[in-house]
Amino acid sequence: MPQPSRLVVLVSGAGTNLQALIDASADPAYGAEIVAVGADRSDIEGLARAVRAGIPTFVVKVKDFDERADWDAALTDQVAGYAPDAVVLAGFMKLVGSAFLDRFEGRVLNTHPALCPSFPGTSGPAEALAYGVKVTGATLFVVDAGIDTGPIIAQTTVPVADDDDVESLHERIKVAERNMLVESVGRMAREGISVQNRRVRFGS
Ligand code: GRF
Repeated sequence: MPQPSRLVVLVSGAGTNLQALIDASADPAYGAEIVAVGADRSDIEGLARAVRAGIPTFVVKVKDFDERADWDAALTDQVAGYAPDAVVLAGFMKLVGSAFLDRFEGRVLNTHPALCPSFPGTSGPAEALAYGVKVTGATLFVVDAGIDTGPIIAQTTVPVADDDDVESLHERIKVAERNMLVESVGRMAREGISVQNRRVRFGS
């Protein structure tokens, strides 16, 4: 069997997407292994999940640096130290900068809890609910310099219920989001992806 793809996963919170990847990668046939988990803050469940799984962790906080670019450079160095094939931003609530994107160009993936290009940014479920859409979902994409603007790898949809609040809608999205993430990251690890004029296809 070929060597599994090396993933570094970055988190900021509960880490349920991370957990889904940890569980999937326990099967050698999955094709990917998580070699480290990083965060922009400490004392979060996402890091605790990594520790329980025996995965190395690191924390790089914006407030520990005078300039945002210095934080970005430090984060880049930490991640690069694990020689990842891909970096998965799984609920990582910071925008990575140009040093990071230059270093890992085309290999940084993010998951967003809305159907891009609708409702980018940090309030996707709330904005979808407020707009009154009947269907929303989640998007996995290759990160570029914009906010949730990169080439789309996969999308998944969920209905919006009449009695939804932001929390119930986001929870429904997250169930679908985790399945999409696990399936797509595994396929990417096993088959590779190609990107041409924004169109992403599995296979190299
Ligand atoms: C996910 O819905 C992610 O798309 C969004 O925040 C949520 C993180 O969930 N940015 P978790 O930390 O993986 O549980």
